[in-house]
Amino acid sequence: MHKMVEATAPGKVILFGEHAVVYGRPAIAAPVTRLRASAVIESSGDADVLLIAPDLGVRGRLSEAEPGDPLAATLHLSQSRLAIPKLGGFSLTVTSDIPIAGGLGSGAAISVAVIRAFLAYYDLAATTGRDQISALAYEVERLHHGTPSGIDNTVVAYEQMVYFKRQEPLDRIEVFSPPRPLRLAVGDTGLRSATRDVVGDVRSQWLGDRTRFEQIFDACGQIAEAGRGAIAAGDLAAVGRLMNENHEWLVEMTVSNPRLDQLVEAARRAGALGAKLSGAGRGGNMIALIEAETQATVTEALLAAGAVRVWVSDVG
Ligand code: PMV
Repeated sequence: MHKMVEATAPGKVILFGEHAVVYGRPAIAAPVTRLRASAVIESSGDADVLLIAPDLGVRGRLSEAEPGDPLAATLHLSQSRLAIPKLGGFSLTVTSDIPIAGGLGSGAAISVAVIRAFLAYYDLAATTGRDQISALAYEVERLHHGTPSGIDNTVVAYEQMVYFKRQEPLDRIEVFSPPRPLRLAVGDTGLRSATRDVVGDVRSQWLGDRTRFEQIFDACGQIAEAGRGAIAAGDLAAVGRLMNENHEWLVEMTVSNPRLDQLVEAARRAGALGAKLSGAGRGGNMIALIEAETQATVTEALLAAGAVRVWVSDVG
């Protein structure tokens, strides 16, 4: 019988606490629902699985995939964790509007979309919770990123604003919402950076001066705690101020760069309530907290300061 299923997953921004979250400090992330990854699984007469992902330059058979191929890894992990006896007889097509390596969670979104499509194809969607989907996506992230905190797969799988703290035996995951959605301008530097490398570099610096880096991470954790309170109270001025402070600590960690700093500055000068880089840094995207009245001026200022693209998105 012919069968075709589609599933999607959103991109994300980190509002507070990137990098420090890897070291057990709390962080806050929100889904960007208008940027999405999509996975389609369609039955075929072929005994193998055909993998098609034009954005990743992938078109080939699962049996011939390179070791470490992210789509193959996601399928194999899903198969093993869900006890599916044999993979074959379908094609998997992945597309995404989320820029790759841009700090918007494209990897986690693709993993979650593929896992959701896989569950739908095997009629397991109704019996699999978002915590299980997130846990599977985390295993995939671990293959690619070394020491991911788990925040990306969590916010993408839960698709809600989330307070996240990495801890044993279970991460602390609390979904919450602002009284009104936050409006963000997301500015793309056009520069790409590999999360794994930036996270690895922060780790080397931490190993070189643990006292200083623990203090920086503590400060980011306190900002995330205060940020959660300010978001829940609808205190936009405080949210913006805390974003600015968080950016300064990310500069201290050396994960910002001149392009990100320029965009952050331009957004603030144009009337944003606050601005910071979002995600791993050294490229990728920055976010600015705006309101309806400042949307046009901040968007124009970001483009004039060199942003290659600006998205406006309501989060929460
Ligand atoms: O992959 P990105 O750029 O969305 O960043 C992930 C956030 C980090 O805190 C830098 C890493 C992590 O695993 O939490």
